[in-house]
Amino acid sequence: MIQELHPLRKIEDGRGALVVIEGGRTVPFEIKRVYYLTKLKSAEPRGFHAHYELRQFMVCMSGSCTVTLDDGKQKQDIVLNRPEQGLMIDKMVWHVMSNFSEDCILMVLASDHYNEKDYIRDYEVFRKALP
Ligand code: TYD
Repeated sequence: MIQELHPLRKIEDGRGALVVIEGGRTVPFEIKRVYYLTKLKSAEPRGFHAHYELRQFMVCMSGSCTVTLDDGKQKQDIVLNRPEQGLMIDKMVWHVMSNFSEDCILMVLASDHYNEKDYIRDYEVFRKALP
């Protein structure tokens, strides 16, 4: 198994639920960027890349989707369908997001600012760059 789902601290009472993510605590990096994906289409998967250095943490805030991780040794499909669980995507892990429900909102916390040079978008280049 490449990753397990990470349970997030949830504080729930009669008013609703509050879920906490802290940089350097819940996730093993300081959070420098947050982005989220909306209006996704079930037939249009995304991702298909790895990062040389970037580390990311994904939370499906609404709806559901499947994240496929590939570290060059094994592949793993993980269903994200609860806002109180997160998935760590480490550097040098090829990832694909698919199977989005209509109401899917996928939030991603990232360890660095956007840098296209950190992307590996060619699977063969990814395989060759693995240690
Ligand atoms: P990309 O990471 O390729 O999306 P996905 O892996 O979900 O298919 O990003 C799509 C486009 O958005 C691409 O042109 C780069 C741009 N982008 C930014 O400008 N800043 C960002 O923080 C991100 C994540 C993407």
